[in-house]
Amino acid sequence: MPHLFSPPPSPTSLPAWSRLTVLAQAGLPHLAQLLSEPALRPAPVSAEGTGLTLDFSRQAIDGSVLDALLALATQANIDGQREAMFSGQVINTTEQRAVLHVALRGTPGATGDAAPWGGAVQQRVQAELDRVCAFTQAVHSGQLRGSGGDTFTDVVNIGIGGSDLGPRMAAEALAHLTHPSPGAPAVRVHFVSNPDAWALHSVLRGLDARRTLVVIASKTFTTQETMTNAASARRWLADAGLSDAEQGAHLVAITAAPTKSQAMGIGPQQTFTFWDWVGGRYSVWSALGLPLALAVGAPAFRQFLAGGQTMDAHFRSAPLPANLPVLMALLGIWNRNFLGCPTQLLSTYPSRLARFTPFVQQMDMESNGKRVRHTGEPCLAETGPIVWGGTGIDGQHAYFQLLHQGIHRVPVDFVGVLSEDTPDLPLATEHHRVVNLNLRAQAEALARGRDTAATLAALRADGLSEDEAQAMAPHRSFAGNVPNSILWLDALTPARLGALVALYEHKVFTQAAIWGINAYDQWGVELGKTMAKAMETQTG
Ligand code: F6P
Repeated sequence: MPHLFSPPPSPTSLPAWSRLTVLAQAGLPHLAQLLSEPALRPAPVSAEGTGLTLDFSRQAIDGSVLDALLALATQANIDGQREAMFSGQVINTTEQRAVLHVALRGTPGATGDAAPWGGAVQQRVQAELDRVCAFTQAVHSGQLRGSGGDTFTDVVNIGIGGSDLGPRMAAEALAHLTHPSPGAPAVRVHFVSNPDAWALHSVLRGLDARRTLVVIASKTFTTQETMTNAASARRWLADAGLSDAEQGAHLVAITAAPTKSQAMGIGPQQTFTFWDWVGGRYSVWSALGLPLALAVGAPAFRQFLAGGQTMDAHFRSAPLPANLPVLMALLGIWNRNFLGCPTQLLSTYPSRLARFTPFVQQMDMESNGKRVRHTGEPCLAETGPIVWGGTGIDGQHAYFQLLHQGIHRVPVDFVGVLSEDTPDLPLATEHHRVVNLNLRAQAEALARGRDTAATLAALRADGLSEDEAQAMAPHRSFAGNVPNSILWLDALTPARLGALVALYEHKVFTQAAIWGINAYDQWGVELGKTMAKAMETQTG
């Protein structure tokens, strides 16, 4: 296997970076003008693949900027770095690990071409995935039961960070496939991450211990928050009259440290594992996806994985100008490094995607919140943006005022779904129309704004006197020129959700590859943990 990966140079040394600097200094027409004069825009200003469509027509770029951004991707050897990842090379340089969450999606594509990560990894992945799916089906069919012979009605997943955010986000995004949807599995899946007692109590208080499966999800099986909740859940089982032996049927461990879960008395039959080359924030595809499989069923979980795989194939094969992850990464770099925007708003419109932003916050900021390059040298370019946001339709009534009339320029990624799938609600179509109308209107308003002349005309049309209109105009005008993209899913299905998650994973990868940083370690979380331990010792 050719050695593909070598730490890239600082992007500031690349010719394309200098070109982009010149273009940024020269400035571009206002987005209102760019949108009104198609000749000024790059062609095309949208890209699609895997059932997702990226409309980047409202990004503050022209043809020259896009060409320079694409040149930056080439000069940063994105293709070579990507293939280094897919072929299992050590790109997590500080932990000397490969980064192979892409292998968890299963065999690459229908073509059956040999997995770039090799047959040994493929077999281990496939075997554990089959265990996860078999266990899921055994719980759903009633073949697997509690210690007293009762079928399971509830699953409680105890985990935090990557051992919670991904499965929890996906279970909520696919709520139409989860209990008590018609035809859905008969188990309710609950998620607890916060060690605040109320978080666990509020879940357990309504459950029957004899019909509850407790999943302890932790890659390291040492995380204090998770272990605190796990101990309390075991106490809850015991207080319900389950002996240590009986508890075994109600406990599952998901970890990359099975010796630790075994020491807790959880046997191999009830333990699902994954590997150190799977980062926590990239682990929803692994056995950590068990709670998602229990929520939506094994077939839907496999469809989710297959969706991620379609995005992998797109990422590896689509030419850069039509490559969704590369385009999103480059637009983010233009906004972050050249337009000087330190934050990125992620604004999802479907209510079922409410947890997508918190999920991406860990993926993006725990990956690219770095200040030194692979080489240990300080970054000469800014790196990961502050990712924030949530459901956009609520944001319009909360913080969109700042986007429209504040002093910060905040690029926005809007995420919407084109088809409506809510059953049994007679006016669902109208609901859907209102949601997507608002998404489109916000994208336009932020890009185009409304200048003083247009505001004066509007105020006069509203019947204000000339003095009143002149007085109000500064308060009622909109600067606009806020760069934004709309990412459309054609439907909210397991496969489309998988493609969406993989898209963001590869966007984060591509930005890190250009900045020359390691997206796959997280030493920054260690100091807080050691401080907590030291303070614990001091206070006893
Ligand atoms: O936040 C630090 C971190 O290590 C994350 O990277 C990880 O997802 C989370 O804590 C939980 O870790 P574990 O799965 O080992 O409990």
